[in-house]
Amino acid sequence: MRSPGGDRPLLVGPESGPTSPFPLRVGGPVIKGFGRGSKELQIPTANIPIEGLSVGGCENVESGVYYGYASLALPSAPEPIVFPMVMSIGWNPFYKNKVRSVEVHIIHEFKEDFYGVEMRLVILGYIRPEYDYVSKEALIEDIKFDIKVGLKSLERGAYKAFKDDPYLKTVKQGEGRN
Ligand SMILES: Cc1cc2nc3c(=O)[nH]c(=O)nc-3n(C[C@H](O)[C@H](O)[C@H](O)COP(=O)(O)O)c2cc1C
Repeated sequence: MRSPGGDRPLLVGPESGPTSPFPLRVGGPVIKGFGRGSKELQIPTANIPIEGLSVGGCENVESGVYYGYASLALPSAPEPIVFPMVMSIGWNPFYKNKVRSVEVHIIHEFKEDFYGVEMRLVILGYIRPEYDYVSKEALIEDIKFDIKVGLKSLERGAYKAFKDDPYLKTVKQGEGRN
């Protein structure tokens, strides 16, 4: 059971750029999660179906917390927009979920929900395993630190370059939209 605090590095992954199995490219339509994200934690997440992992050939990917870029084909924008993101793949031990989920926290403030919109992910590095926590506050504190780690790690040139990855930019018009 993890308590708040604890030192961990702000930079994860080698300076020279992502190494195998990264970059991982996965995607899918944004679906509803269990609905705790924004309400309980005030850290909204956009979930994609777990099958998105197998489409990307990543069904064996280890559970844990990762960082990278996400793109969204929002109906209001002429082309997909790319954002930094941190994400969890796994069972959410704190909530004892019965199903494995893919939950992405896009590091941007959105005014509206965007269920049904196609989301594409380029995953560039592994931050940490999933933990169970002594309290909700401890989980929130760790996710807030994950956000700092993700942003700092993406500042490096060999990671930043993936912002322009063609996979993020080539969502077909109307794909994944309701
Ligand atoms: C970056 C990040 C890290 C996370 N780390 C953990 C974790 O270590 N343990 C855990 O139980 N859940 C973790 N979660 C999952 C949250 O518990 C989950 O997003 C929250 O329950 C909201 O889910 P819901 O919107 O499906 O209800 C993490 C989520 C994100 C975005």
